[in-house]
Amino acid sequence: MMHLLVTGGAGFIGGNFIRWMKKNAPEHLIVNVDALTYAGNLESLSDISEDEGYRFVRADIRDRTKMEEIFKTFDITHVVNFAAESHVDRSIVDPEVFLTTNIIGTQVLLDAAKKHWNLAPDDKYSRDYRENVKFLQVSTDEVYGALGKEGMFSETTPLSPNSPYSAAKASADLICRAYSETFGLPVNITRCSNNYGPFQFPEKLIPLMIHNCIKGKSLPVYGDGMQIRDWLHVSDHCSAIYTVLTRGTSGEVYNIGGNNERANIDIVKLIIKTLGAKEELITYVKDRPGHDRRYAIDNTKITTQLGWSPSYTFENGMAETIAWYQNNASWMEHVLSGEYADYYERMYAPSFES
Ligand SMILES: NC(=O)c1ccc[n+]([C@@H]2O[C@H](COP(=O)([O-])OP(=O)(O)OC[C@H]3O[C@@H](n4cnc5c(N)ncnc54)[C@H](O)[C@@H]3O)[C@@H](O)[C@H]2O)c1
Repeated sequence: MMHLLVTGGAGFIGGNFIRWMKKNAPEHLIVNVDALTYAGNLESLSDISEDEGYRFVRADIRDRTKMEEIFKTFDITHVVNFAAESHVDRSIVDPEVFLTTNIIGTQVLLDAAKKHWNLAPDDKYSRDYRENVKFLQVSTDEVYGALGKEGMFSETTPLSPNSPYSAAKASADLICRAYSETFGLPVNITRCSNNYGPFQFPEKLIPLMIHNCIKGKSLPVYGDGMQIRDWLHVSDHCSAIYTVLTRGTSGEVYNIGGNNERANIDIVKLIIKTLGAKEELITYVKDRPGHDRRYAIDNTKITTQLGWSPSYTFENGMAETIAWYQNNASWMEHVLSGEYADYYERMYAPSFES
C-alpha cells in the first residue's frame, strides 16, 4: 500500500488524479497538500473529503519544516508533485513566484523525500533507500520549447523553454535529475502535453471558450489562432502518471501525449459548433510574447516500454467535457465569483481552531 503525497491536489490535474485514484486504486492512502492559491479549489473534491484513506493539509511546498513533518506524520512512500504556478500569461506578469514555487518548492520536497527514505541519512554519500519509494515530478512538454511544422518532442529533445513558466518547470526537471544522479533518489519525470477535462480553472483555453460560448460572450483568440497543441484528456494523463509511478524505471523521463494535434482556432470552432453558437463571437486579440507555435509529443517510450495508451479520442473527450461544463454551471459560477475560496474556511478552518 502506498502512502501517497499528492501536492497541488486542489488544482485541475491533481484533483482529477485524486478522483482517478479513488476509482481505480482505492487501497492507497492519499495525502493532498495544497497551499490553496487562486488555482486551488477544494470544492472540486467536496464529495470525497470525508473518505477513508484521504487527508487534506493546507501547506506550502516551500515550507521545509512542514514538508518534513508531513513525511513523518504520514510515513510518505510516494510523491506526485503537481503543485506549481501553471499559467503562462501570469508568468509573464509576475515571474518570481513561478521560480520559488516551481523550483525551490520541488527541491524542498526532494530533500524531505531523501531525508525520510534514505537508510543512512547521516552518510552524505549514501544511495541506499527504502524499498518501494518513488518521487514523480509532473512536468510539461513546454520545457522543450517550440516546434516548426514538422517533428515531435522525444525524451532526448534538448530543453529549450521560452516562457518564465516553462523555464521554471525545466529547472525543476534538472534538479530532479540531479537528485537521481547524485543521490540515487528514485525519481521519474513525466512531460505531458496540454490537458483538458472537468474542473479546469476558466483562465485556460477550453473552459474559457465553453463558458463564454454558453454566455454569448466574445471568444478572445490569440494572434491568428494557429498555435498547435497536442491535447490529452486529463483522465488519460492520470492513468499515465499511475503507470509511471508503479512501473516506471527510476531515473527515466517519460513523455505523455495522445497524438491529438489541434490548432487553437479549430478547438474554438468545435466548441462553437457543439454549443450551437455563432462564429461572430470570435475576437482575435494581440498575441502574447514568446507564444510557442507548435507542440507535439512522441509517446513511443511510454506506450512501448510501459504499455500505456490513452482511452479517449479527442472527439469523445471534448463532447464529454463540454457536457460536463454545461451540467456543472454552479461549479463555474463559484469559481468566477470567487466563492470557491470560502469553501476551505467553511469546511476546515473551524476544526483547526478547536
Ligand atoms: N494543465 C496542463 O495542461 C498541464 C500539462 C502538462 C503539465 N502540467 C503540469 O501539471 C501540474 C498541475 O497543473 P494544473 O493545470 O493542474 O495546475 P493548477 O494551476 O490547476 O493547479 C496547481 C495547484 O498547485 C497549488 N499550488 C501552487 N503553489 C503552491 C505551493 N507553493 N504550495 C502548495 N501548493 C501550491 C495550487 O493551489 C493549485 O491547487 C503543474 O505542475 C503543471 O506544470 C499541466
